[in-house]
Amino acid sequence: MTISTTPMAPSRPAVLPFTPEIEQATAPIWSRVKGVIPALEWPVHAPYIDAINRLKAERNAVVLAHNYQTPEIFHGVADLTGDSLALARMAVDTEADVIVLCGVHFMAETAKLLNPAKTVLIPDPLAGCSLASSITGADVRLLRERYPGVPVVSYVNTSADVKAETDVCCTSGNAVEVVESLGVPRVIFLPDEYLGKFVAAQTDVELILWKGHCEVHERFTAADIRGFRTGHDDLVVLAHPECPPDVLAEADYVGSTAGMINHVGASGARRVVMITECSMSDNVAVAHPEVDFVRPCNLCPHMKRITLPKILHSLETLEHRVEVPDEMAARARRSVERMLAIGRGASAGVREARAKVAS
Ligand code: 13P
Ligand code: SF4
Repeated sequence: MTISTTPMAPSRPAVLPFTPEIEQATAPIWSRVKGVIPALEWPVHAPYIDAINRLKAERNAVVLAHNYQTPEIFHGVADLTGDSLALARMAVDTEADVIVLCGVHFMAETAKLLNPAKTVLIPDPLAGCSLASSITGADVRLLRERYPGVPVVSYVNTSADVKAETDVCCTSGNAVEVVESLGVPRVIFLPDEYLGKFVAAQTDVELILWKGHCEVHERFTAADIRGFRTGHDDLVVLAHPECPPDVLAEADYVGSTAGMINHVGASGARRVVMITECSMSDNVAVAHPEVDFVRPCNLCPHMKRITLPKILHSLETLEHRVEVPDEMAARARRSVERMLAIGRGASAGVREARAKVAS
């Protein structure tokens, strides 16, 4: 991915003032988020939220935010929120001229692949992902040489370079469906080893795996989950499939971030722990005040590079534009579009996890 830079932001005060007008304009947002954002922080966030929301309209821009974004972004300025699959679909459907992708750069790159004619911005171009950086296009070519004729399924948490060498992409919300759609006995599945094991336990297709891991989810342990359950028999444990297999084996539900959110409402649970990135529980708690969330905090440092001041800077300067070289983009786009053509249905695979996870 290349990132092009454009002129500097117009000069403005380092800290935007919290005026009575801004307090009034942002009051409806504050009343929604006051359970998850400290009152002391609001005077700092509100002026940015107000400025971003005004500028969005002027620029005909849409802000897409991943479920791991902080509550002031998720509830304050995002027009659309979701998991990786939903964000890709929203990027196709939007009529805006400018897409500001609040997430990590593979997400912005995917939006650009699907919208070559639109301006796609990422507020911080260094927002990476340990899975995406675990493999290159050259690695995929070597795998193809080693396993001739075996198709390649890549998780969307990959660079355009890798997507260009891929037959079809998948997300955690549709991986089993994508693997089975190929109708072959063996598939190269990369780069997430743990997601691959989770998929392998639900299909007869043999998966050749890569050893990529998410630096956030690999830190959870099965002992952590047993600890959370101690003294709380009613605790419902929701886990993301990027967690290690022994962690998933302890969970009541395994699914994409959107799947986990949907499961909170559908399950009627009153006490929940989400084994995933920190901000998820805060974002979901706004819609579910009746649920008591246990909040372990494993933070994704890449997702947390995106902040309100950087989003405002992006809108002011139309910086940082995501660009993918044409030839690479054409091949990478094909693998994403093939995924989107499969099962335009659920964005979240509901899985009862216990006893279904490969070890
Ligand atoms: P989802 O597609 O489930 O939102 O996951 C993306 C991700 O990066 C999880 O770490
Ligand atoms: Fe990548 Fe993990 Fe961060 Fe998701 S949580 S963006 S997989 S490093």
